[in-house]
Amino acid sequence: MTTQTRKIAFIGAGNMTQSIVGGMVSSGYPSDHIFVSNPSAGKLEKMAQSLNVHTSHDNAEIANAADVIVLAVKPQLMADVCAALTEQVSNLADKLIVTIAAGIRIEKYRSYLGDTIRMVRVMPNTPSLVGKGMSGLVADDRVSDDDKAYITEAFDGVGETLWVADEDELDILGAVAGSGPAYFFEFMASLQKAAVNLGFDREKARAMVQQTALGAAEMAIASELELEDLRKQVTSKGGSTAKGVEQYQAHDLDKTSDDAVKAAVKRNQEMAKLF
Ligand SMILES: NC(=O)c1ccc[n+]([C@@H]2O[C@H](COP(=O)([O-])OP(=O)(O)OC[C@H]3O[C@@H](n4cnc5c(N)ncnc54)[C@H](OP(=O)(O)O)[C@@H]3O)[C@@H](O)[C@H]2O)c1
Repeated sequence: MTTQTRKIAFIGAGNMTQSIVGGMVSSGYPSDHIFVSNPSAGKLEKMAQSLNVHTSHDNAEIANAADVIVLAVKPQLMADVCAALTEQVSNLADKLIVTIAAGIRIEKYRSYLGDTIRMVRVMPNTPSLVGKGMSGLVADDRVSDDDKAYITEAFDGVGETLWVADEDELDILGAVAGSGPAYFFEFMASLQKAAVNLGFDREKARAMVQQTALGAAEMAIASELELEDLRKQVTSKGGSTAKGVEQYQAHDLDKTSDDAVKAAVKRNQEMAKLF
């Protein structure tokens, strides 16, 4: 079955669903093949108007109509949502189940939805909301290459996609790319404060920092050099950048990042046990 012929149902019309569906429609996915359900009306009305997708307050109705079901509710609601789908959708085993919820492992979905499901877990990150996401994906071994190509194409609409080997790797991806925007904001805010501490206007400092972050990210994407070599390339010996970089090295930025990622992986693993 090709991308164009699959009917896809999103359970939950929150921020992430709105972005993913927006990306899919912009990339040419037929909106009459997209179904979205949500308890409250406002988000559905907005999506029906702006994206021309089918909407419903009934999760089972759209799940029954679709070939692919995307579970896009908060993790704490997942058990109840899945229990209702199990009762009201007859052929779950024939559908591709995709979840974007953080933390919940495939094994847990099997206990909710039955042992015969085929499933993809996607871990998008917040920049997906502006089409610059980094989504990690992992599938169980029942998911076909065709399924994988299909779901890659769907998430390519909100940024880049990266398949990982297993759910442990997805925890690591979550700790780097999922939590990463917060690390970058923390660093950007600290650079902004440093400029303000020297008397710079707050708004001007912000403009300077955010444009520099964007420029550095785009240079990294455009370059084939290792990131460390890119850093060396913009650091003349004895110059002012070298003096600044020395300060970061003196405070062991590598160790700080290592500790941060390990702490976030540990928390991902702890949270997986909560659901
Ligand atoms: N946002 C991110 O950057 C991000 C990143 C990675 C993963 N995720 C995961 O993506 C999922 C959705 O996140 P989000 O940011 O889109 O959350 P969100 O904006 O809060 O959206 C969740 C939606 O689910 C709806 N909902 C509540 N109960 C429901 C039910 N029983 N059946 C169907 N829909 C129901 C809510 O409707 P009402 O508002 O009407 O209650 C809301 O529209 C979460 O599991 C989250 O962990 C999000």
